[in-house]
Amino acid sequence: MSENSTNSHRIGEVILDLRSISLSFGGVRALTDISFDVREHEVRAIIGPNGAGKSSMLNVINGVYRPQQGEIIYRGEHRHDMDTHAAAKSGIARTFQNIALFKGMTVLDNIMTGRNLKMQSNFLLQALYIGPARREEIEHRKKVEEVIDFLEIQHIRKTPVGRLPYGLQKRVELGRALAAEPKILLLDEPMAGMNVEEKQDMAVDIHTPRRQLKAGLRGAGVPVEPAGRLLKFGSGRHCL
Ligand SMILES: Nc1ncnc2c1ncn2[C@@H]1O[C@H](COP(=O)(O)OP(=O)(O)O)[C@@H](O)[C@H]1O
Ligand SMILES: [Mg+2]
Repeated sequence: MSENSTNSHRIGEVILDLRSISLSFGGVRALTDISFDVREHEVRAIIGPNGAGKSSMLNVINGVYRPQQGEIIYRGEHRHDMDTHAAAKSGIARTFQNIALFKGMTVLDNIMTGRNLKMQSNFLLQALYIGPARREEIEHRKKVEEVIDFLEIQHIRKTPVGRLPYGLQKRVELGRALAAEPKILLLDEPMAGMNVEEKQDMAVDIHTPRRQLKAGLRGAGVPVEPAGRLLKFGSGRHCL
């Protein structure tokens, strides 16, 4: 997770550009003519009341919903048929408003699932645990251990996620997303339900990888640093 460049936190080029996005579900308009962009290393926060369309926007970006109108330009390419798998493969990771982890699996194994798309070796080699598969597994485990160290959750690495308090589960979910080494990290309500201390920890966890992992970040309910741009959804919805 080390980053050698001293300018690693400098805001860079636009990596995601959303133009005039509209999304409706039957008669319900979730998003109406929304435009904004996200730059490399930038944290963008979306604020707005319940039902304003924050989660829907994240779902559009990672391919869960396809907007009826608008354009998405991701790293210079127009996206039309992006599905969730393609989005993940192209470097978009996310966490969910309702935590999406395997509750019976350990913290370590859950974070390991963040590496799935990066695994190259075929199933047979993996099953036999030989040759390239073995080397690959060691490499992935190393990355996962780095994430665990970064989030300071070594003490719970063998604990089944379902036994952890809510705040820690949120951290593990962030860990799974970070393990994918994303270009863009979408966090949906990363601090909802947390106490003040947990929120402070989470703020550090969110703002540090932006520099270290070169990930552009955006999400709902994340305190923005002074340079961060705020995106406001709701009545009289507009972009800043
Ligand atoms: N899958 C869906 N089917 C129907 N309506 C939906 C769906 N997802 C979101 N909506 C509606 O879209 C609007 C925006 O919801 P949402 O994106 O969840 O807002 P927020 O995350 O800001 O609370 C709401 O009116 C919600 O009921
Ligand atoms: Mg939401």
